[in-house]
Amino acid sequence: MNNDNFFYEVLKKFYNNDICEKIYKGSVKKNNTFRVNLNKTNLQDVISKLKKEDFKYKNFKFYDLILNCKNDELLTYDLDYLMKFINREEFNVDIFFVDDDNLKKIKNTDIYNDGLIYFQNTSTLIPIIFLNLKPGDNILDMCAAPGGKSLFIQNVMKNKVNVTAVELNHIRYERMCNNFKKQNANVFTIKDNSLNLDDNLKFDKILLDAPCSGSGTINVFDENIYTYFTEDLIEKSIIRQKKLLEKALKLLKRKGRLVYSTCSILNSENEEILLLFKKKLENIVQLKIFPNECFEGFYIFSGEKL
Ligand SMILES: C[S@@+](CC[C@H](N)C(=O)[O-])C[C@H]1O[C@@H](n2cnc3c(N)ncnc32)[C@H](O)[C@@H]1O
Repeated sequence: MNNDNFFYEVLKKFYNNDICEKIYKGSVKKNNTFRVNLNKTNLQDVISKLKKEDFKYKNFKFYDLILNCKNDELLTYDLDYLMKFINREEFNVDIFFVDDDNLKKIKNTDIYNDGLIYFQNTSTLIPIIFLNLKPGDNILDMCAAPGGKSLFIQNVMKNKVNVTAVELNHIRYERMCNNFKKQNANVFTIKDNSLNLDDNLKFDKILLDAPCSGSGTINVFDENIYTYFTEDLIEKSIIRQKKLLEKALKLLKRKGRLVYSTCSILNSENEEILLLFKKKLENIVQLKIFPNECFEGFYIFSGEKL
């Protein structure tokens, strides 16, 4: 069996042929996308700088991209919840698209080096909407590097929430700290395994963007898939996800909100994990995104601790 067949075989465990085809078709290289860092600048400033340097780009409202995704039936579960929030000004940010050539050039400019923009896939913004953020919230980002989600939290909330970002990998931790500094994001950082955090710490909101198989980010044209997308990775990810979720529930205040997310589309890392923890939560909402050239495949569930 060759590699991308392994990917297809795994998909077939969870989906009918039509959906497998849809996922397979969308499992391609993703567009390069960035958003404006509103803690340092504003939309007009970035647009005028991009124009001045003659960069080629396209920008779309986040809401419109989600709407396209919805119309293409790439979204499942609690769409109404998502659509209700995504129209709010703080979430409905501009997403910029650039080709590889312009990406390289932008990375050599002050627009990028001064942290006026941040490159991240559009799907990764969605879990933040599910946190139901309020000024003054005490938030834990349990698996935080390179920091894209904590950064978006502090962009949406204008640095008015307390974010603690934990990362165990040394190199990724350093990169994350540089990102927070460069982007002017007020985030307290801890270099440790989240599983070691003191259970007496209690948070209003917890984001567990769990380590996963990355099945939603696969490019089926990459001939090296077999080196990283393996049965072993899937099994190890599931074990880690369960341990981290148990820990998250210990660190969360009663009635506090948990958001669990992965860039995997496999039910074994998502819906089946939710089933194990469902009894400990209420007001549960879920969302799954199937991949296309714009969105990585992604899954989110959120609920309040009973
Ligand atoms: C999916 S990535 C997180 C991406 C990040 N949330 C973002 O949006 O930029 C998962 C990260 O969790 C880290 N990680 C995995 N297990 C961890 C643990 N037990 N404690 C802390 N960090 C962990 C990994 O090293 C990796 O950097």
